[in-house]
Amino acid sequence: MSQHPEIRKLKHFNAPSVHGNRLWKSTWLLMDYLHRRGLPKDVRVMEVGCGWGLLGIYCAKKYGVKVTSVDVDPEVIPYLKLHARINEVDIATVRKDFDGLRTKHLQKIDVLIGADICFWDTLVKPLKNLILRALRARVKQVLISDPGRPPFEEVAEYFISKKGGEILDWTAQRPRRSEGRILKIGNMTNLRS
Ligand SMILES: C[S@@+](CC[C@H](N)C(=O)[O-])C[C@H]1O[C@@H](n2cnc3c(N)ncnc32)[C@H](O)[C@@H]1O
Repeated sequence: MSQHPEIRKLKHFNAPSVHGNRLWKSTWLLMDYLHRRGLPKDVRVMEVGCGWGLLGIYCAKKYGVKVTSVDVDPEVIPYLKLHARINEVDIATVRKDFDGLRTKHLQKIDVLIGADICFWDTLVKPLKNLILRALRARVKQVLISDPGRPPFEEVAEYFISKKGGEILDWTAQRPRRSEGRILKIGNMTNLRS
């Protein structure tokens, strides 16, 4: 995918600097999870740390749900827009970091998703606080996938012990093989259908 001529063209002008320079394999984990578990109609999804945005694009294309994709790095947005155009979906984009997503933004969504977004120790506190704000804003489900890096595990342990979170060891074969962990907080059954 990185070698596609359209992507190579974009690389001349847009250089993501916080690891949003490619599609990360944890995206396949959540795509596979959603493929197996489904997503109710009419839910509003927010993908945080979206990078090239494929996970949110998958939700919009496969389930026709409304998706807002958020990233701190504006340089990822042209890559997301290209993929959204190719997949013929509309995705709202917002440039914010985890701390910038406040209750007023989170009240407008039902599901918060993110793939490989807790890769530095400095991201533990902002991600933990974002999830806590999301739960207080009555977001019904939070799903975060990761290869199993220590900062992610720290966030996961907190939500397992304090907020009824679950950790799932997950292997996806399609669309690409990927192995890792999914932190799941809340339940799809509480979602509007
Ligand atoms: C490893 S990449 C993963 C991208 C995408 N989710 C994927 O799976 O391909 C991490 C992404 O998180 C974004 N990011 C890093 N720190 C962030 C923060 N504090 N708030 C929002 N996004 C952040 C980066 O810009 C980057 O796009």
